[in-house]
Amino acid sequence: EKGGYDTFMEKEIHDQPQAVADTLLGRTDESGALVLDELRISEEQLRAVDKIIVVACGTAAYAGMVAKYAIEHWARLPVEVALAHEFRYADPVVDERTLVVSISQSGETMDTLMAVKHANEMGALTVSICNTHGSTIPRESDAVLYTHAGPEIAVASTKAFLAQITAAYILGLYLAQLRGGSYAEGAQAVMRDLHEIPGKIEELLTRMDRVVEMANFMADTRSVLFLGRNVGFPVAMEGALKLKELAYIHAEGFAAGELKHGPIALIDAGQPVFVIVPAPDTPHELHKKVVSNIQEIRARGARTLVIAHDGDEDVVPFASEVIRIPQCPPLLAPLLAVVPLQVFALHLSTAKGLDVDQPRNLAKSVTVE
Ligand code: BG6
Repeated sequence: EKGGYDTFMEKEIHDQPQAVADTLLGRTDESGALVLDELRISEEQLRAVDKIIVVACGTAAYAGMVAKYAIEHWARLPVEVALAHEFRYADPVVDERTLVVSISQSGETMDTLMAVKHANEMGALTVSICNTHGSTIPRESDAVLYTHAGPEIAVASTKAFLAQITAAYILGLYLAQLRGGSYAEGAQAVMRDLHEIPGKIEELLTRMDRVVEMANFMADTRSVLFLGRNVGFPVAMEGALKLKELAYIHAEGFAAGELKHGPIALIDAGQPVFVIVPAPDTPHELHKKVVSNIQEIRARGARTLVIAHDGDEDVVPFASEVIRIPQCPPLLAPLLAVVPLQVFALHLSTAKGLDVDQPRNLAKSVTVE
């Protein structure tokens, strides 16, 4: 049942091309327009939406943070991301024009369920992005958009994360199409780009030898930092979460722009720092800005473990290691950039002799508040 792999997590990392491909399946008609029949909310109601709030926990919340950048850009709707347990008790501003999107692999996380119930009581429209048919959260929601990642057994989420980003992107593109803004036509081109992602993950998974070696060398590491910007910021958070969950190492993700406002004080000789570099064509020169962050921390002795696109030579002079990901449009990069971080955490956990699939103190779905 582990498909020839040693652990469920390793299998699930390799399931990712299929998880993304299956989640994309059947979302467009012959003309290439998005169709979301399963959504069961009228187009009129969806057109009236003036705000989105994503509620989720853990990895699912990071998928929501990634989606915020894309949905705001495409659909021109404000998107907030709330940790489900904070949302419920924070007196959130919600009405019938608010679309509350919950994201949950299991569909049973109590914190997320309570947030959805609260949103329902306040009259919001609720959509569940969920991987488990017939689970509680979709049942309690007005509508559901299933991710088709297949069963995820390892406690630490991998393929569900990629499928959640994919589904949230489909929702964002659908809203863009429906609202008919300047991005309505762009939606089809993004769908085409998304369809190329599974092949690129496949290719990326063949390049992981050096990442495995790095993890094996680093079994004694006590702290690892992660920096990212724009959609790379939640990827940094997710990379850190994977290390905490799997290898019990102190790990923190930061927004790269925040470095000079505090975290740079943490940098001393030998401190390992993963940096998720934006695609070179990311607007507002974010690529250049992150490259200078790498330069700054390298000058202070950091070991810079740089995740950069193929062909990006600007990072080379400041990188202790360069991990290459295939080229793709800037907003789709999280679907690739997170993969080496998953593989790194898996192998560091293995190198420490830990139980990859069942980390201590964690459960696959937490059904208490
Ligand atoms: C945590 C799990 O308890 O719940 C995480 O350890 C997961 O891996 C989070 O991301 C949310 O779970 P779900 O099922 O709601 O996506």
